[in-house]
Amino acid sequence: RDGAVMVTGGAGYIGSHAVLALLDAGWRVVVVDNLVTGFDWAVDRRARLVVANVADDEKVRDAIREHGVTAIMHFAGSVVVPESVSDPLKYYRNNTAASRSLIESAVSEGVKHFIFSSTAATYGVPEVVPVREDSPQLPINPYGMSKLMTEHMLRDVAAAHPLNFAALRYFNVAGADPQGRSGQSTAGATHLIKIAAEAATGKRGHVSVFGTDFATRDGTGVRDYIHVSDLAAAHVDALDLLLAEPGKSHFLNAGYGRGYSVLEVLDAVDRVTNMKIERRMEGRRAGDPDELVSDNRAILEALPWRPKYDDLDRIVTDALSWERHLASRQ
Ligand code: UFG
Repeated sequence: RDGAVMVTGGAGYIGSHAVLALLDAGWRVVVVDNLVTGFDWAVDRRARLVVANVADDEKVRDAIREHGVTAIMHFAGSVVVPESVSDPLKYYRNNTAASRSLIESAVSEGVKHFIFSSTAATYGVPEVVPVREDSPQLPINPYGMSKLMTEHMLRDVAAAHPLNFAALRYFNVAGADPQGRSGQSTAGATHLIKIAAEAATGKRGHVSVFGTDFATRDGTGVRDYIHVSDLAAAHVDALDLLLAEPGKSHFLNAGYGRGYSVLEVLDAVDRVTNMKIERRMEGRRAGDPDELVSDNRAILEALPWRPKYDDLDRIVTDALSWERHLASRQ
């Protein structure tokens, strides 16, 4: 492996799993994270940690030079959709403007490969499901728009400079490292599987089901849940692809191409825990689409990547193990 990979947001949920996947694949890793939502203990000891904002040009450029960084994986950002509605400028600062700075640092330091954490939220409410990469991108919240703007920057920069990129559009990321080395640790969870895991470990009393009148098989929202370690592995393969084909960039959906409803997810949690977690049927959250499932043929075609944990019970089991681990540390 020639050079090092810079992982921004490497102390966060998905980033820390990407760090593990890169290290396991033999890469040298330097993490850039301001530790606002991430944790220094989440960064594997084999990686170097630079505590800095990705928009801190001086620190980022010094780290690129010092460690011989040849590729950047950019996970750092803000990810809470309702917060993006109440504080849009935070999202345009942390996601769009900070990405602009980081991309400029990459260009000026001659870093030629860039992998970006994009999101299915860039599709808004899709007209056709499963969603293909060439579907209209009409985000319905500032979070999705802040990520879409970064996709556009990358496309334009790759046309003007010797840099190629892969923008992976994540569907619903869940689960935890099967070896128990990392997981979702940030407090104030909003994600269904994390919330259900908290309920199963006694951290909360029930799970709210937001909406029972969607146009789906059981009336609850359907999503494409992808195991975080599969997602991390896809990044390592995407990097190999960028290295092999320097002139080419990619927009790729990252999902399993199959959806589960909220009730199906909660059934899986009950099955795995042998519990009956209380469900409270409630009204819809603003802006939730009925169904969001990926067409994942492009990523399967582009990468040798094949999911290893494409199983809802497995995702739930790993999420629960991590939740128990967190509970035991308190
Ligand atoms: N849900 C509940 N109860 C809860 C939490 C969620 O019923 O307590 C439902 C939601 O209404 C939805 C499904 O479970 O139908 C999944 O909701 P999540 O909040 O876990 O995830 P979202 O699909 O809303 O959004 C996630 C990420 C976004 C990302 C999007 C892309 O939070 O950042 O996936 O698909 F953009």
